[in-house]
Amino acid sequence: MQSVRIVTHFFLPLGFSWGVGSSAYQTEGAWDVDGKGPSIWDAFTHTKGKVFRNETGDAACDGYYKLLKELNVNHYLLSISWPRIMPTGIKTELNEKGIQFYNDTINSLLESSIIPIVSLYHWDLPQVLQEKYGGWQNISMINYFNDYANLCFEKFGDRVKHWITFSNPWVSYETGEHAPGLKLGGCGAYKAAHHIIKSHAKVWHSYNNSWRSEQQGMVGISLTTGWGEPIDPQSQADIDAAERYIQFHLGWFANPIYRGDYPEAMKNYVGNAQQGLGTSRLPTFSVQEKIYIKGTSDFLGIGHFTTRYVTQKSFPSLQVSSYHMDQDLAELVDPKWPAPGSKWLYSVPWGFRRLLNFIKTQYGNPLIYVTENGVSEKVQCTQLCDEWRIEYLKGYINEILKALNDGVNVRGYTAWSLLDKFEWNKGFSERFGFYHVDFKNKDKPRYPKASVDYYKNIISANGFPNPREAHEI
Ligand SMILES: *[C@@H]1O[C@H](CO)[C@@H](O)[C@H](O)[C@H]1NC(C)=O
Ligand SMILES: *[C@@H]1O[C@H](CO)[C@@H](O)[C@H](O)[C@H]1NC(C)=O
Ligand SMILES: *[C@@H]1O[C@H](CO)[C@@H](O)[C@H](O)[C@H]1NC(C)=O
Ligand SMILES: *[C@@H]1O[C@H](CO)[C@@H](O)[C@H](O)[C@H]1NC(C)=O
Repeated sequence: MQSVRIVTHFFLPLGFSWGVGSSAYQTEGAWDVDGKGPSIWDAFTHTKGKVFRNETGDAACDGYYKLLKELNVNHYLLSISWPRIMPTGIKTELNEKGIQFYNDTINSLLESSIIPIVSLYHWDLPQVLQEKYGGWQNISMINYFNDYANLCFEKFGDRVKHWITFSNPWVSYETGEHAPGLKLGGCGAYKAAHHIIKSHAKVWHSYNNSWRSEQQGMVGISLTTGWGEPIDPQSQADIDAAERYIQFHLGWFANPIYRGDYPEAMKNYVGNAQQGLGTSRLPTFSVQEKIYIKGTSDFLGIGHFTTRYVTQKSFPSLQVSSYHMDQDLAELVDPKWPAPGSKWLYSVPWGFRRLLNFIKTQYGNPLIYVTENGVSEKVQCTQLCDEWRIEYLKGYINEILKALNDGVNVRGYTAWSLLDKFEWNKGFSERFGFYHVDFKNKDKPRYPKASVDYYKNIISANGFPNPREAHEI
């Protein structure tokens, strides 16, 4: 018998939650059924030329409980479509059928012993709010979003205990590639984010003041970010550039929420003196706002897919403002990294552990749920043998085990995603699902890929069924 026991996680802690996720617009379909109002993504995808092959999410993928049961997940992460329950975005007009739809969804999950983790916003803003008031550019979205969130707490909060205010709230106002398709440059993106951060804080306070004592749930935010590693670890300029990469992606939202203000790197680099601008284009929080926003997250949701090497790069002083150029960096990849699917998605498991440790030290070791992690494929293997997805999952889950040994507080893992689905501006061309969906067939039949069995075994063992797989790579 061993006398000294080194505590090493080969399995996940008891109570660790395994799940899969998806978002409303990408999977629900029924875009105009039963009183649902249009969202900015409906309007965007119905404009020809915006999305690969002009595909839309009009009828994406229906019904999935059977598959969730088959996988035997502990939780399912879904988002509510705001315009499905408030067709025009405001509380004076409710759509009872939409409320019923989510109520039934939540009840069905619970009947299958699956915990619903519910996101209030995964990009599908009611189109009316965009058209009439300018969407997130307008500060009055804070109150509209708070009304909507309170309705959800009122209707579903007796059963939903895990709320995400925003999923990946970086809004693409800069390039117009995503809905609402506006090209507002850096200024527009910073302003939208400013209102989103305040909306998040307001909703957290609403929950804390009005619902928490009765409902006993948690409210957090979900942020998706890559990891940035300095290309030359000896170069201070590259180290600083990598720091900016992570601060512009994650710190933009996480820093105000966990530390009370935008990261220094953003304050220094957004329209700073170096660029010949007198004042920053980054909005500022008042002292009261900083206090109000700090500490408004009961857990941090983290979406993570890939890593970049980062090097310092100066851009010439520009008249146009740009979120990307403000960062003064260039992103590089190692051509040896596997990239089976989306062009941007390289499999680099070690970046995940570094990211999780960064979060632990920067934000005071918060409770973390991994809300999105997975890989796509461009070509479909006829046997549905997605070996690369299995390798990806193995590598990334292994890094979570290492991070747990480092003391990072991860409590759940959400693989992205259950089904092949609508991939925003890429249409149906990139497939992230455990289940292959034949979108050309009107019944949209699903077929399990090889990774279904792999993930199922991980869930039932609460880790790698063969512990020798852990820590090997
Ligand atoms: C998408 O719509 C645009 C504009 O109508 C058209 O030029 C293009 O050919 C369409 N693409 C496909 C694949 O249908
Ligand atoms: C939602 O489901 C719960 C639990 O079954 C039920 O008590 C409630 O009345 C339902 N609400 C709506 C609007 O259907
Ligand atoms: C912002 O929204 C309000 C409604 O809440 C509207 O009265 C106002 O005109 C909007 N501002 C802009 C600039 O669109
Ligand atoms: C959250 O609510 C509790 C109970 O009402 C209250 O004591 C606490 O001050 C609130 N937290 C914040 C940050 O407002």
